[in-house]
Amino acid sequence: MEHWSYRTIIEPFRIKAVEPIPFLTREERQAALERAGHNLFNLSADEVTIDLLTDSGTGSMSAKQWAALMDGDESYAGSRSWAQLQEVVQQITGMPYVLPCHQGRAAERILGRTVIPAGSVVLNNTHFDTTRANIEQAGAQAVDLPVPVAHDPGDPSPFKGDMDLDALDEALARHGDRVAMVMLTLTNNAAGGQPVSMQNIEAVSARARAAGIPFYLDAARFAENAWFIHVREPGYREVSVPEIARRMFDLADGFTMSAKKDGIVNIGGLLCTRREDHYEKFKNELILGEGFVTYGGLAGRDLSALAVGLQEALDTDYLRYREASIAYFTEGLDQVGIPVVKPPGGHAVFIDAGAMAPHIPAEFFPGQAVANALYLEGGVRGVEIGSLMFPGATMQLVRLAVPRRVYTQSHVDYAIEVAERVAARAAELPGYRLTHEPPFLRHFSARMEPVPAERLPRRG
Ligand code: F0G
Repeated sequence: MEHWSYRTIIEPFRIKAVEPIPFLTREERQAALERAGHNLFNLSADEVTIDLLTDSGTGSMSAKQWAALMDGDESYAGSRSWAQLQEVVQQITGMPYVLPCHQGRAAERILGRTVIPAGSVVLNNTHFDTTRANIEQAGAQAVDLPVPVAHDPGDPSPFKGDMDLDALDEALARHGDRVAMVMLTLTNNAAGGQPVSMQNIEAVSARARAAGIPFYLDAARFAENAWFIHVREPGYREVSVPEIARRMFDLADGFTMSAKKDGIVNIGGLLCTRREDHYEKFKNELILGEGFVTYGGLAGRDLSALAVGLQEALDTDYLRYREASIAYFTEGLDQVGIPVVKPPGGHAVFIDAGAMAPHIPAEFFPGQAVANALYLEGGVRGVEIGSLMFPGATMQLVRLAVPRRVYTQSHVDYAIEVAERVAARAAELPGYRLTHEPPFLRHFSARMEPVPAERLPRRG
């Protein structure tokens, strides 16, 4: 029998180096939470047992990546590590012009300062918040065009990350020449880590091309997206994952990438294009802010580790395990009665906190209530994605993002058990009220205090 036909998810690696995880008492966690102003961003990592705050830069590197690190070439210009990375990126993506940068938002900032003029419009399935911020910083408008099912946590459609094509046609007609760029975020992180279908990428690409507008991908999770096309989209079972990835990139003029996700490195990013005119502009901006074109704010060893990580991320056994572990986590929570966004996404589980704690009105942050309860109960750290992060948000979610190759199935079992205990007493969870609110991106540094359940205003 093939190993994937077994019920047990077998991690496609064995562990060569281990890192102890902290265990605290409930009293210690309570004290930590109070000191943190009930904001999990303010905790010290030493106070967190299972850290699911993000899958960004938190993955484990392989033995081959550590070996590549040692072999890194730290020459200022023309380093061997750079040549390795450039070759791998060109081979995977087919993009002739490759620029390294220190992380995804650096690529976005360069884009914003070069090819997104003030007063223009950028269309995307859903902008990640740093992408949106860099576009707005350029004086342009970032417009999200997700498909309607993206807003329905229970809808099991396979490609809820798609862009709404009717909305795209309408936006192209309305904004005309003002549209500076069309983008697709693969997978659609802000909409539940849901994938975008090849059919949708093709349709969006064709429309952008017909309108003469540059089409770029946010390729942070390109390998997970390619895997979902392989397993969920008719006609792609026989097409290999690297081939699917190549087809996705072939449809675009360029891409930004936070390599901290599917590059499986702790720091790094890419900005690539097939347009020479864009490349010339990017290069000048890169030198101004990131560094010379052959290192872009990274050490030579980082470039070497990324060259290996990008290839490992396309490995079938790795991707099968990655999908299986997120699905296992999602289904495990579902089975103990916790409302989750379906179907499982690529990098995280999203708990529907609005449904789990319906007694907490949105302005008392039900997502924060559930996230804090998970920490208090078992030291599990997730992140609120709801009205605290996005004032006026329609969904109140908690994201539990799974770092790559870090936790095993028993860590996931533990997290499910913690959530089950929280759910058993969900009706007693307090809401939260802000005691300190910073002027922007308030979720990072806000301070809060609990409002007991019995003192919350009744709904409706
Ligand atoms: N694009 C997407 C889709 C992302 O998810 C992120 C980061 C970025 C761009 C920015 O990249 O952090 O390297 O500058 N997402 C992280 C997260 C922070 O937790 O989802 P960066």
